[in-house]
Amino acid sequence: MKFWDREKEKKWLKHYLLTEPNAILFVYGPKSSGKTTLLMKVVEELPKEKFIYYWFDLREKFITGYESVIELFFKKKGWLESFVSAVRPKINLGIFELDPEVLSSIRQKETDPFEEMRKRLEEDRAKGLTPVIVFDKLQKLKDIYLNGGNQRPIIKELFNFFVRLTKVLHLSHVIVMTSDTFFIEQVYTDSTLKNTSEFYPVDFFDDKTAKDILISEGLNERDASYIVEHVGGVPWMMERILSSPESTEAIQRFYKDSKGTFQEVLDLIYEEGWYEEAVKLLREVLENNFKVKKEDKKILKKLVEYELLFYDPINRLVKFQSKLDERAAKELLEELK
Ligand SMILES: Nc1ncnc2c1ncn2[C@@H]1O[C@H](COP(=O)(O)OP(=O)(O)OP(=O)(O)O)[C@@H](O)[C@H]1O
Ligand SMILES: [Mg+2]
Repeated sequence: MKFWDREKEKKWLKHYLLTEPNAILFVYGPKSSGKTTLLMKVVEELPKEKFIYYWFDLREKFITGYESVIELFFKKKGWLESFVSAVRPKINLGIFELDPEVLSSIRQKETDPFEEMRKRLEEDRAKGLTPVIVFDKLQKLKDIYLNGGNQRPIIKELFNFFVRLTKVLHLSHVIVMTSDTFFIEQVYTDSTLKNTSEFYPVDFFDDKTAKDILISEGLNERDASYIVEHVGGVPWMMERILSSPESTEAIQRFYKDSKGTFQEVLDLIYEEGWYEEAVKLLREVLENNFKVKKEDKKILKKLVEYELLFYDPINRLVKFQSKLDERAAKELLEELK
């Protein structure tokens, strides 16, 4: 697998991991910007004997409440995690393994699950390892957080535990990755996360970097510029275009997909009855005169959730997920006029 650039980001993340744990780290950026790929590369390049990773990929998990959170964290002794198989040989992958009795006592809420984790992390420390807990695709917890009723406390507790692990005990790093930044904002405001977290953006490649990469892959100046102008620095699209025989055709296809998806979401919004407001907001973003105001937050949140827009909470910036999406939106909204 190819890995391009990200020198600046790798340096920052390595420095973060080599420093004593002191804050939860939120890595955020548009979907498919390369967050997971980047972190995997970073952990591969760090000395294997210094770290142990507890990597939770929430992508394929169906999380409904206490039971499934426990299931996510703990495994019966002897259980082997198949996940991260690609990096597994290169990193030290940890699993919270428990004796069946302890596990069942946790399930019955007689034993504190976080306490069990803390003990385990302290054992790692005693062996000279720095534990790193990775939570990939945080937004998968959103449903239970927002609609789970009495399940909500488990997420709050989880984040309070993360604060304790980092800021208070300096025991383990905690990295949380997501493209749904409103959810971060929500967790942040609800839990006691003030002054306890850091935020690091991972965006698509900027135009210049993307162009340099394409040229280094053998394209001429003109073709590289054409691609960047149309799709921007979206890594997976660059990969696909490079490996397709006809780049303009590939770009056309991406564009069609993007427009199709956009249309589908607009139809859905129409059915849900907030079409006018959504279109108004999208137009403002397109015309570059959108400012995040309180009264727009609800609509903005939904558009981010539907992945039409990306919101950068640190710089308070709203933009389309990608250049291609922006162009698709422009055309669709033009057609609507
Ligand atoms: N630095 C890179 N070099 C080459 N390819 C990359 C790079 N970063 C990402 N990619 C490609 O882009 C794809 C998407 O990246 P990745 O899954 O890391 O994005 P993500 O930000 O984690 O997405 P999501 O928000 O959906 O979790 C990868 O499967 C890989 O093919
Ligand atoms: Mg990811």
